[in-house]
Amino acid sequence: MEVSNLRINRQRLLDRIAELAQIGAIDGGGVCRLALTDEDKAGRDLVVSWMRELGLHVSIDQGGNVIGVRPDGEGRVDTPAILTGSHIDTVGTGGRYDGALGVLAGLEIMACLNDADVETPCPMAVGFFTNEEGVRFQPDMMGSMVHQGHLPLDGMLSSRDRDGVTFHAELNRIGYAGDVATNSVHARAFVELHVEQGPILEQEEIGIGAVEGVQGLSWREYTFHGVSNHAGTTPMSLRNDAGYAAGELAVFARKLALDMGGDQVATAGTVILTPNLVNVIAKEAIITIDVRNTDNDLLIQAENQLDAAARGIADQEGLTLTIKSLARYDPTPFDPEVVDLVVSCAETFGQSVRRMPSGAGHDAQAFAPNCPTGMVFVPSVGGISHNVQEFTEDAHIEAGANILLHTLLGLAEKSVEQQ
Ligand code: GLV
Ligand code: MN
Ligand code: MN
Repeated sequence: MEVSNLRINRQRLLDRIAELAQIGAIDGGGVCRLALTDEDKAGRDLVVSWMRELGLHVSIDQGGNVIGVRPDGEGRVDTPAILTGSHIDTVGTGGRYDGALGVLAGLEIMACLNDADVETPCPMAVGFFTNEEGVRFQPDMMGSMVHQGHLPLDGMLSSRDRDGVTFHAELNRIGYAGDVATNSVHARAFVELHVEQGPILEQEEIGIGAVEGVQGLSWREYTFHGVSNHAGTTPMSLRNDAGYAAGELAVFARKLALDMGGDQVATAGTVILTPNLVNVIAKEAIITIDVRNTDNDLLIQAENQLDAAARGIADQEGLTLTIKSLARYDPTPFDPEVVDLVVSCAETFGQSVRRMPSGAGHDAQAFAPNCPTGMVFVPSVGGISHNVQEFTEDAHIEAGANILLHTLLGLAEKSVEQQ
């Protein structure tokens, strides 16, 4: 068969998405598979079993990243591969597509190449990277960042969740502390298919997003230390109320984003009060603020203003303050030639396509500084994600996977010609 006529098998891909979504399934059709939990292990086991069924050469690295390599026409698995993939961990209230789509579309592409006995000029590979979400262990994109040399393996292994459990202990416990070095599979190029997780494609009735880059992200944790006291007897003027400070900072963050306008967003996603009782003034409040912008200077400005506001609030209320950075990524551009290739593949498939930035963080941004990298977005119904209602139409999934297939094949041809 002419390679240009290759098409993925839509039903097989949808069946795999549905089967993986059973693991960690939660009410409303969503999924909870936090990194390195029993559910993550079960999801990993299933995907690895599919990789083996497809005859892929599976490697598990010391950070728990898993890559399945399909040999090239010469039978080689150890030369740099064209790599696709994403993550299978989810947030606590995750949907069934965020991450899983990119991994399972990659598997479907390997199945499709197998069915047609296609011999590619270099190996083709699909992977899933540990702890992309960063909900249980910070930062996010941990596995791919270690894989691409931006974070040290030791830092990843020694990080702890809120209960003090180390990443290393959990990775061992679930049996995914592999023996090969991170980045033992080298990527010639990396392309990730993902749901948009925002409203733009749907609002503009466009089928495919050719992602030009990922906006910058900063997660900051503010801990206010005050004094617990009786909620009924303590005059307002005599309080050192850590809970109040967290509330003020959350309001400040929202106003800051609105005042800055443009692409600036800000979210107070977690607040932990101690002792968290109805009639006790909180002696401690830990609040996280997620700020993002496509412009790094503006992002730095937002971070500085948040820190200054937190200090001012703490001083006024007689509190002490600790500030910690949990994650920090600069805006990351993708390779213009990969973006062009995604656009031309989409046009070949008769899909409407637009170039766009990504609002969410992705494993692809770890690869972008090191090899030609891009992403394909498909529309999210209602722009909803990190929510059990996350949904993408089957036809969009099929189109996205076919465009990913032909983008990867195009990159394989091109990278070998350039040698
Ligand atoms: C990852 O999902 C993010 O928070 O962008
Ligand atoms: Mn994701
Ligand atoms: Mn996510």
